[in-house]
Amino acid sequence: MDSPKISPENRISPEKKRIAIIPGDGIGQEVIPQAVKVIQASGADVELTDFDWGADRYLRDQTTVPAGGFATLARDFDAILVGAFGDPRVKTNIHAKEILLGMRFTMDLYANVRPVRLLDAALCPLKGIEPQDIDFVVIRENTEGVYTDAGGVFKQGTPDEIATQEDLNTRKGVERIIRYAFEYCRHNKKQDGSPRAKVLMCDKSNAMTHAGGLWQRAFKEVSAEYPHIAAQHMYVDALAMQMVRDPRQFDVIVTNNMFGDILTDLAAGLQGGLGMAASGNIHPGKTSMFEPVHGSAPPIAGKNVANPFGAILTAAMMLAHWGMRREAEKIEAAVLEAVREKKTTQDIGGPLGTREAGEWVASRVLSY
Ligand code: NAD
Ligand code: IPM
Ligand code: MN
Repeated sequence: MDSPKISPENRISPEKKRIAIIPGDGIGQEVIPQAVKVIQASGADVELTDFDWGADRYLRDQTTVPAGGFATLARDFDAILVGAFGDPRVKTNIHAKEILLGMRFTMDLYANVRPVRLLDAALCPLKGIEPQDIDFVVIRENTEGVYTDAGGVFKQGTPDEIATQEDLNTRKGVERIIRYAFEYCRHNKKQDGSPRAKVLMCDKSNAMTHAGGLWQRAFKEVSAEYPHIAAQHMYVDALAMQMVRDPRQFDVIVTNNMFGDILTDLAAGLQGGLGMAASGNIHPGKTSMFEPVHGSAPPIAGKNVANPFGAILTAAMMLAHWGMRREAEKIEAAVLEAVREKKTTQDIGGPLGTREAGEWVASRVLSY
């Protein structure tokens, strides 16, 4: 069993970090260059290598992941910075599945860490909510569940067609993500400097009793190892309602792959929309992958309107993961300033384009 240590003083050594840059499709190609610009402005000691994996490459030569691709990423890079995958020209979405889910599964990036922070009251659609009211994190299991796509179709195209979609949960997988959540709680503080204190496990064990039972048992056992952290539980439907009614109550939420996917889009809504949400796909001690929560947003792609802040905050998360706290803090401070000064894209109320918003943040970062 891995024993994650997720302290800010990270385990990876502080020399030059090698980052694989995979912008992917749609707005990924617009927001990632802005994130790169900001990383460079931060003074972080990094070496960047571009990868062309995505729909264009797939349509050109049918390659999703070149032979040995994941091994190269794991061996030659300290992290991967990803944009998004999904293109209307690839109806099967096969490239997204093989590249994105391929990285998560093959590289065993089991913890999908999705911080939920409100930078400014004006960004939240809820009434009377201040930035300090929304500061929680969703720790999403990232290698199991229905995402394994186990199952099949029988008698396809007939009136008797049957489709099964298995929800795969292993004791090892469930236990390690729950332990990751407790370790995260133990080692990370809230934005205001106060300690994190609660881990809430979210499932649907009242209906899905087999998988739910395993999550319940593992949670009970792992939580007993952390007597100073409050252990709580909520069913996913109730949690979705509570997230909208009273997001103040949340601290660290741990859940399965699919619930985590859905809840983090909802949570992005609390932060100002998908353009504001950051994430990391992490296996402690291994090459991890960082990507904004949003997708490729085909309808707005190529128009210089996509919000780059989710990608920029994702870059900050990557630097913080290595212990480059000063660089990460500069980036976060510049994004906060941009939001307050309305130097943003239109989705969050500003007049700027993707490039201009990215350049504004980069120039602030340079000035600190
Ligand atoms: P999406 O996140 O691309 O877009 C959802 C909505 O949010 C759209 O209205 C879009 O315009 C808006 N939006 C998203 N990011 C934005 C940004 N940075 N700035 C401003 N507005 C933004 O999700 P979708 O429409 O459900 O999916 C589109 C494609 O992206 C699909 O192919 C999907 O599979 C894929 N996708 C990929 C990832 C990923 O690679 N990590 C994540 C989610 C969806
Ligand atoms: C995300 C995305 C992916 C997921 C899709 C593109 C497979 O929605 O990263 O949240 O469901 O995990
Ligand atoms: Mn999603």
